[in-house]
Amino acid sequence: MKKVDVILGLQWGDEGKGKVVDVLTPNYEVVARFQGGPNAGHTLEFNGEKYVLRSIPSGIFQGGKANIIGGGVVLDAILFRLEAEELAKSGHDLTKQLSISKKAHLILPTHRMLDAAYEAAKGSAKIGTTGKGIGPTYTDKVSRNGMRVGDLLSPDFKQIYARAKARHEAILKSLNYTYDITALEQEWFEAVEYLKQFNLIDSEFFVNNALKADKSVLAEGAQGTLLDVDFGSYPFVTSSNTVCAGACTGLGVAPNRIGEVFGIFKAYCTRVGSGPFPTELFDETGATLRRIGHEFGAVTGRERRCGWLDLVALKYSIMINGVTQLIMMKADVMNDFETIRVATSYKVNGVETTEFPYSIEEGVEPVYTDFAGWQCDLRACRSYEEFPEAFKRYVDFIEQETGVPVKIISVGPDRDETVLR
Ligand code: GDP
Ligand code: IMO
Ligand code: MG
Repeated sequence: MKKVDVILGLQWGDEGKGKVVDVLTPNYEVVARFQGGPNAGHTLEFNGEKYVLRSIPSGIFQGGKANIIGGGVVLDAILFRLEAEELAKSGHDLTKQLSISKKAHLILPTHRMLDAAYEAAKGSAKIGTTGKGIGPTYTDKVSRNGMRVGDLLSPDFKQIYARAKARHEAILKSLNYTYDITALEQEWFEAVEYLKQFNLIDSEFFVNNALKADKSVLAEGAQGTLLDVDFGSYPFVTSSNTVCAGACTGLGVAPNRIGEVFGIFKAYCTRVGSGPFPTELFDETGATLRRIGHEFGAVTGRERRCGWLDLVALKYSIMINGVTQLIMMKADVMNDFETIRVATSYKVNGVETTEFPYSIEEGVEPVYTDFAGWQCDLRACRSYEEFPEAFKRYVDFIEQETGVPVKIISVGPDRDETVLR
């Protein structure tokens, strides 16, 4: 029986998951998103075209593969419809290729309002969410009040909706949040009808039957390990399990059915939204990373905060996920840098440690190891041998520190700008 390989982010998201899923999809028959929702923005570039996917798995462009939105996902029917229609315009009819788990939870218009209201109530302590209703939808799931895609098929659908809406309205009133969802609600009801043309499936059976039939399955994560609700920089996290265990709960795959775990990281580090970020750069170097790396949110357009690679955090993420192969992205952004820094330990209130601490909010000072930059264009390289020695030393160091091989190196946004080892 085949196993499920998992691909996930090891930092604070936007590591380049979309690009790598697209690159790896030819090796798989099924690609399945296991958590998150339209807070994700996964960018793919090939043949001079650029696509940003939010809820649709990034295996959709590699012809004829089954793509699944798993039960751990939260789905906004309105945004999903926009995304699917946009793809249809460019000639990608998804109805045959894409299936949606009946266990995925629906994001209601009032969930979006609640997201905004909770953020406003937090004032300066706000999380800086994407405003897509992610937290309130997962909250309803866990408090056993959620609405699932499977409810679309129930004759009581409208009543289930009305009950949820009434509950949300009472909370919004208590928060003195004013809003008007008349138009949004209309659009939502049309969009949930639109959902019905897709295969609404029991994705746990779909995935396990595929494995039994010896088909290979790739599970695609969203966000990153440091945004995981249990292991991330809480409370500045998202509301789902972004870690490898999330692939088990999000798809109904047993832990002993997990195969390779591909951990993706940028050769530096970024974060969007609020929350601590020990290696953040507030100087010209940070601005240069942002400018050359085009570090602006794919969903919200917000500036991404930029900083040096953090090996304390990376090693922690590798441990939590059981990463078996590393994938390094965007080293090309630092092509012209004279010096490249990597945090190898932290001083926490003056005491040095290599363990990611309970809180990184205060008193954490990164200790850096410096590397000479390679100062040449990595984007032209298509094999490991072509890379300059200075870059290979950087890769070797990361492998030694983490004990995990770097198997894929991405040197540009395009599908072809990828070096496999
Ligand atoms: P995801 O959310 O993890 O899928 O990542 P995003 O798509 O949000 O952000 C990654 C960004 O980096 C996108 O704009 C990609 O096109 C771009 N990108 C991916 N890999 C590389 C790379 O190796 N080099 C450069 N320069 N850009 C890359
Ligand atoms: P991809 O899949 C980067 C961040 C938000 C905010 C926090 C909570 O493209 O890597 P939420 O809307 O989830 O309640 O916001 O999480 N965040 C992301 N940051 N990439 C993402 O997705 C993100 N999804 C959520 O900025 O700080
Ligand atoms: Mg992204």
